[in-house]
Amino acid sequence: MKTSSLWGQPQSRYYSYLARIEAAEATKAPTLAVIGCADGKYVLPAARKGFDVWAVDVDDIAVNGGVKEDASGEVQVPGLVSRVKQENLSDRVEVTSGDFMDFPRPGQYDAVFTSGALQYSFNSRHRLASMVDAVCDLVRVDGLVYFDYMLPLEKKYKGRENCPEAQWWKDHFAGRPDFQVLHHRVLPPVLDKAHIEFPVDHYHQWGHLLVRRSE
Ligand SMILES: C[S@@+](CC[C@H](N)C(=O)[O-])C[C@H]1O[C@@H](n2cnc3c(N)ncnc32)[C@H](O)[C@@H]1O
Repeated sequence: MKTSSLWGQPQSRYYSYLARIEAAEATKAPTLAVIGCADGKYVLPAARKGFDVWAVDVDDIAVNGGVKEDASGEVQVPGLVSRVKQENLSDRVEVTSGDFMDFPRPGQYDAVFTSGALQYSFNSRHRLASMVDAVCDLVRVDGLVYFDYMLPLEKKYKGRENCPEAQWWKDHFAGRPDFQVLHHRVLPPVLDKAHIEFPVDHYHQWGHLLVRRSE
């Protein structure tokens, strides 16, 4: 039975990313780490396609289920673990509840994906550069890392060390000769649909950065 995420559907660019990873992995199931997976918006689509996925999130309710309260009231969250079970994908998905910074797995994945996670206030305890490097450490040589990062459009993000302008990302990867930037684009502000924890349509600004590990 197909389940759905309370965070909505992946964008078409995510499916293009999966296709690109699959094209490079003709002989075995591709491995993917999803950092900040919530209830699996990006995890289930990859597992359904035959990827072996490691999914990690610090939000225990999004992972294991429970009740969240937001401006719309109480919301029952089934959670990623139960979605994976319902879809019979337990063999394909390993789920970890916790801060990804506590789970180094150097070079273990063919690809890594993270969307809208690093700018969380929880992450003020880490330097952004250390988080970005920790995400990059997960991928093998020739593997891909996709950062879907938030820009400081809203007042609450302005001046936050872990939510910088696009130039920070450019400068950071200029200092990482072991990673080749394949694509870096900043989109104009977009109206994102209401989802759990943010139950009204709202504007965000996103940057997309795709890098390949070269050594
Ligand atoms: C905006 S949500 C995005 C969920 C999903 N990726 C999406 O785009 O719909 C970001 C997720 O990252 C998680 N997160 C933030 N910092 C994290 C950390 N240090 N370790 C693990 N998860 C983290 C949050 O708990 C949250 O579930």
